Amino acid sequence: MSDPAPIQSNTSVRSGIPAVDRYLDAGYASVPGMSSRFAAAVCGGLLRIQGELGVAGPAVEFGTFEGRFFIALAHGLAPGETALGIDRFDWPNAQVQDRFEANCVKHGVPPERRITWKADSHTMRAEDLLGKLGGRRPRFVHIDSEHSREGLTKELELVTPLLAPAAVMVLDDMLHPGYPTLVVAVHAYLERHPKMRVLCIIDRESVVAATKFVLCQADWQKRYEERLLQAYKANIWPMGADFSPHWCPVFSLDTRLAEIPT
Ligand SMILES: C[S@@+](CC[C@H](N)C(=O)[O-])C[C@H]1O[C@@H](n2cnc3c(N)ncnc32)[C@H](O)[C@@H]1O
Repeated sequence: MSDPAPIQSNTSVRSGIPAVDRYLDAGYASVPGMSSRFAAAVCGGLLRIQGELGVAGPAVEFGTFEGRFFIALAHGLAPGETALGIDRFDWPNAQVQDRFEANCVKHGVPPERRITWKADSHTMRAEDLLGKLGGRRPRFVHIDSEHSREGLTKELELVTPLLAPAAVMVLDDMLHPGYPTLVVAVHAYLERHPKMRVLCIIDRESVVAATKFVLCQADWQKRYEERLLQAYKANIWPMGADFSPHWCPVFSLDTRLAEIPT
């Protein structure tokens, strides 16, 4: 029997956008935060794929904290595209916004390439959000703020009508043992929005750097999926995910299956 594939190092995974990969190599781990480097690399790869397909527009993150994932997102945008970072900036203390601003500058995302919005997503109006984006529909949204079923539902419903047709929405901390109801919100959302699909799952690196689901409209699913499977072939977990009646790939640093004695 051949030896099982080893668990891969996260540093072997690239986005293919030089500015993103430089930040992943030399900055990402130093910025406090919770998203995994693996997920940021695959999301950067998705931004690159969007660019190659001619998909343009701003990016939005709900829950920037100190900017770890946000900086990668901003580096993945094309010139002239803006990253909007939303946070209440009240946790764990009021200085978190200063640290966010300083981290962005230190890692090459100056104020003219981004918008910081100190706000509570629960009281946000869709027209104000679109106004912050200058009326441009986002092509990439990362939702990583309040980890409750109600909070996630509110953000999903707030942003869905604003999305560009080819937009992707990345949902953090799916299947996290501390937040078991988040996936309930996702399944209820998918039932209310039958045109939306789970494009892929990006597996966890650790219990903190947890799994993300990536959603998109059904008519973009195959285009993105083909390119992701090509770009991350070393990270395809063989079983994939059954979102009956749909299937989607799972990308992981650990591509092993249970060994069955024969
Ligand atoms: C888990 S942290 C985000 C981590 C970050 N995205 C990363 O990858 O490093 C969650 C953030 O969401 C913010 N947050 C929670 N509820 C919010 C709400 N209703 N509106 C805006 N921000 C919120 C918190 O202040 C906190 O900074």
